[in-house]
This record gives sequence, structure tokens and C-alpha cells, in this order.
Amino acid sequence: MNISLHDKRFEPYIKEVAIQNRISAIAEQLSDDYRGKRPLFISMLNGAFWFTADLLKSFTGDCEISFVKYRSYQGLQSSGEVMQSLGIDVDIKDRDVVILEDIIDTGRTLSVFLEILMQHQPGSVKIATLLIKPETLQFPLVPDYVGFEIPNDFIVGYGLDYDGLGRNLRNLYVLEK
Ligand code: HPA
Ligand code: MG
Repeated sequence: MNISLHDKRFEPYIKEVAIQNRISAIAEQLSDDYRGKRPLFISMLNGAFWFTADLLKSFTGDCEISFVKYRSYQGLQSSGEVMQSLGIDVDIKDRDVVILEDIIDTGRTLSVFLEILMQHQPGSVKIATLLIKPETLQFPLVPDYVGFEIPNDFIVGYGLDYDGLGRNLRNLYVLEK
């Protein structure tokens, strides 16, 4: 079923079961890769809140979780400027960090965050993202765990918003053409 948010219409894109299946597979892989370690997951708010919650429910080993909040998107467009509203508040030195992102679009926010993170001297850093838009990427980022590669379309739902709306939706939707 199509939906409306503010002035725009969106059509169904990726269903809840497909999202959950991919996340379970990523969680299984992370559980293997970090067996015997104690990774520190850093979740990029706001968008990654569902991905973080669902992924960590299926992660089997010890782990810690922390949240940060940076943003560059406004409405349908990347603003070109990254703002920090919640920074790193845990000890990162020598930790095995896994960054959790909802979407890598231009990659600007994540690149800025990675630079800040590296100043804290983590032991290792990997990136897990639910979605990536390879055509749109402007920064040299190679995520280690990817849910779905998608074309350059505007997506909402499952944590992603259009001007604040749509984060609560269980499925992903794409802007109607
Ligand atoms: N949808 C919502 N938020 C976003 C997107 C998108 O496609 N890309 C980057 N932030
Ligand atoms: Mg947004």
C-alpha cells in the first residue's frame, strides 16, 4: 500500500521479512567474526535505531553499545554540512569498534565521524550498514557488512525519515516517480 508523508507519496520497496532476514544474516556473521572479543557497537542516531536494536538482539557474544548523533540530511537532500549533536562518550582506545549505520548515501556523515573516531585510537573499526547507494557515494568508504545495495532513490521507513516522518514504519518505501 502506498503512503503519504508531508507532501510526498511513497510506494512499498523492501518488506519487513526481507529486512529482518538480512539483519539476522549480518548478526550471525558478526557473531562469528567477533567470537571471543567484546566489540563496541556505535550506533548512528537517529536512523540506525531499529537496525541497531534488531541486529543486537541476534548478536550472540559479549558486546557493548553506544550512540552518537551526527547529521547532514535535510528533507530530500544532503546539506553538505555535518553537525554533531551527540558525540563519543565512551573510551574507544584499543576497542574493536563496529559502526552501525542505516544508510550510506554520499558517505559524508560517516567520513566525518570516522575521522573523529580515529583520533580516539580504536584497535579496529568496521562498518555495518543496512543500506548503501553505490552510485551516490562521494567518499572512499567500503563497508564490511551491507544489508542492501540500492539505486539513487529516496527511501523512508525502518528508521529513515522524510523531514522527521516515517521512521516508525516497519517496511522500507521509495519515493513515487
Ligand atoms: N532517505 C532518508 N534519509 C536519507 C536517505 C534516504 O534515501 N539518504 C540519506 N539519508
Ligand atoms: Mg534523515
